[in-house]
Order: sequence, then structure tokens, then C-alpha cells
Amino acid sequence: MKPIEYYNKVFSLLEDHHKWFQQSIPLIASENIPSPAVREAVVSDFGNRYAEGFPKERVYAGCKYIDEVELLCMEMMRELFGAEYADVRPVSGVNANIAVYTAFTKPYDIMMSLSIASGGHISFGKSKFFGTAGSVKNLEIEYFPFDYETMNIKVEETKAKILEMKKENKTLPKLVMFGGSVLPFPHPVKELTEFFHEHGATVCYDAAHVAGLVGGGQFQDPLKEGVDVMTVSTHKTLFGPQGGAILSKAIHQDALKKTVFPATVSNHHLHHVAGKAIALAEMLEFGKEYTKQVVTNSQALGQALNDKSFNVLGKKNGFTKSHVLIVDVSEIAFGSDIEKLLEDSNIILNRNLLPYDIKFGRHYDTTGGIRLGVQECTRLGMKTDEMKQIADFIERLVIKKEDQNKVRNDVIEFRKDFQKVHYAFQTATEAYQYLRIRA
Ligand SMILES: Cc1ncc(COP(=O)(O)O)c(C=O)c1O
Repeated sequence: MKPIEYYNKVFSLLEDHHKWFQQSIPLIASENIPSPAVREAVVSDFGNRYAEGFPKERVYAGCKYIDEVELLCMEMMRELFGAEYADVRPVSGVNANIAVYTAFTKPYDIMMSLSIASGGHISFGKSKFFGTAGSVKNLEIEYFPFDYETMNIKVEETKAKILEMKKENKTLPKLVMFGGSVLPFPHPVKELTEFFHEHGATVCYDAAHVAGLVGGGQFQDPLKEGVDVMTVSTHKTLFGPQGGAILSKAIHQDALKKTVFPATVSNHHLHHVAGKAIALAEMLEFGKEYTKQVVTNSQALGQALNDKSFNVLGKKNGFTKSHVLIVDVSEIAFGSDIEKLLEDSNIILNRNLLPYDIKFGRHYDTTGGIRLGVQECTRLGMKTDEMKQIADFIERLVIKKEDQNKVRNDVIEFRKDFQKVHYAFQTATEAYQYLRIRA
């Protein structure tokens, strides 16, 4: 291709993507739609500047407005999470986790976390799976004992595991990581944090997924429940631009400040700091109402899918108390097949390992599960009636095997009414409107 052809092709693909999302039902649990206001902040000149270091302690000139914005962003982060310290520089959730590992562990220390099949994230993983904790920080990983039925950490078994390690004179975990990528129910932070502290561990909570819900007061409050530090992504249930942040008690501020810069972040993405600040203002104003609706919607979608004979996990406890649902589809097809079928019909979600998939020889390409998150649909203004309609579309495709073109057309029609970002300050710009700046 000639340069101008590459140039035009890329823009045309971007516009195609926007159009596709305007016509689709977005159910990926780790994504969201930022407001047009956040998108405006992200295209500002902040994205072309350097500001290594802390506000007012930079190693670059030209930062006077950048410093003001970053300080406001930190202030709102502290307010939203009731935290004594907030660092908004990590450029992603994984980056925030690496900064925490660097602050609180040494190579070959042990970290306790969820396995990936049980809902842990690859950043908690062992080196043999190229997990970040193992392969980047040389941590050894011990898994939390996990209960499939309640989809949660087993409290007594966890204590027993630590006491057994102690009895056998084994090295105990230096760091404990609660939270994860499939987090339908609050983790037993209150029940276990003191125990871990007594046994010499620092306790972190990875709230990458549930940060918005925590900030909106609709999920557990890990810092209040006693953890030392909490990491977040800023773009999942928290509806900012892609990025990360760390919240902690004041006593950890000095350690974390240095393990963010210079240890693990050079220049942080300043346009995203501006976008985070705008999203935080929106969360402080609208977060309670938004997160309440997120949880109402996810429970409604869980019930509707269950009513259509889908095996939604966590049934005993109402399917979910967060934005996420896990459905065992192993009796119908692989999760990957269903992911593709739905994607071709403009319903976008992803396959997911079930806690017991490994036991049945299933792996990432042949999962028994799918994962659905309702936060983005909620931001588009959908409520419980729309959750029932979404369950209906999924049933028509997966169980009734209806013609895909017909269902896709119905999805496109359904989506026409949901083109605005809700829970944001007023704007005329539509949610997925392509913003053209070039001539
Ligand atoms: C629990 C958890 N931690 C960390 C991350 C990584 O976040 P990021 O993509 O912001 O690096 C994810 C991503 O989904 C996650 O689920």
C-alpha cells in the first residue's frame, strides 16, 4: 500500500469499529464507555508531554498545569475511595500491581492469590504460566482454597493452609492479593486480613474490576475492611480512560511513591491522568446511582438467563453482587464457540475458564464458561427490561439456534435507543460517535 492508502485505511477501520459498537451489545466485563468529556481530555496536549516524578517534584519543565490536574485527580481518588494516599500514575492495573509487588516483596517471596481458573488475574500468576508475579517479580505463588458453589475463598481452609505451612516450617506469604478478574461476590477480607497481618503479610486487594462499585458504595470497601493497599484499573466499572491507580494507608506512601517512579513508571500518560480526573468528577456526582443500577442489572440478567435454563454460577447467592456473571455453557458448546457465535451477531462478551475447567481438561481455548458484565450497557442507560431482552437474544442464538442475521438485525434495532452516555454531565455527543479532528 502507498502511505496515503495506509493512512486512509486506518481511519476507515477506526470508523468501522465505532459504527460496529454503535450497533452492538457490549458485555465484556473489563470494559466501559467513557463519556465524551473524558474522550476530550484524552486528546488534549497533555498526551504529548513528560512529567516524570511527583506533582511539584518533577524532573521536567512545562508541568505547571499538569501538576494542578494531577493533584486534583489524586484528591478526587482519595475522596472516592476514602483513602489516605492515592497514586494516579500507574498506566494500567498490571503496572499498579507490579509497583505493589516491588514495594512489599523481594524475589522468591511467596504471594497468596486466586488461581486464574478461580478468578485470579494473569498478573497474580506463576512463572510457568508467564504470570507477572512469577515471571517478572520472581514470586512463588500459593493459591487460596476456593469453593466452586459460593464462588469464593474458603476462610477456614485458608487459615488451615497457613497454619500447616507454619507447622512445617515453610516460608509464609509476604503478600496476600485479594480480588480478581471474576469477582461476583465480596472476598472475605474482614475475616482474613487480621490473620494474615499476624502472620507477617502485607495485604493488597486488586479492585481492577470492581473499583467503580467500591467507589459507588455498592461492593465491599477493602481499605475500610483493613487491607494495606488497593490497586485499580480506571476503565472497567470505573468509567475512565485506560489506566491504573494505587490507594493505600498513609504509612505506605513513601514506599509506593518510589516504586511507581522511578521503579516501574517513567513518564506516566498525562492525558489519561486528565481523563481519570474527569471520570472521577463524574463518579463523585453520579457514582452511587450508576453502581446501584449496575448491580440491579447484573442480578436481573443472571435471573433472566437462569430462567432460560442457562447454568449461571453463584445461584445460591443470587448469581452476583457485582457487575459480572459467569455462565457454565459446557453442556452446550465451548465458551469460545459461543463467544464467536454471539460476536457475529453483535453481542460482544468473552469466554472464561470455570473454576473446575482444568479438572475436566479444558483450557483457555476450550473453556466451559462465558463471562458477562453489564457496566457498559448500564452506562448506556439500560435497565432491567433491557437485561431480559439481552437474555432473550442470547437464548435465541445459543439455545434456539435461530437465524443469526435475523437476531443481529434485531440487536441493531434494539441498540438504536441507547446511544448516549448516562451518569455523566450533559453533552450532545453520542457514546460511540467518531470524533474527527483532521480536516
Ligand atoms: C484483577 C485484574 N487485575 C489487573 C488487571 C489488569 O488491568 P489492566 O488491563 O489495566 O492492566 C485486570 C484486567 O482485566 C484484572 O482483571
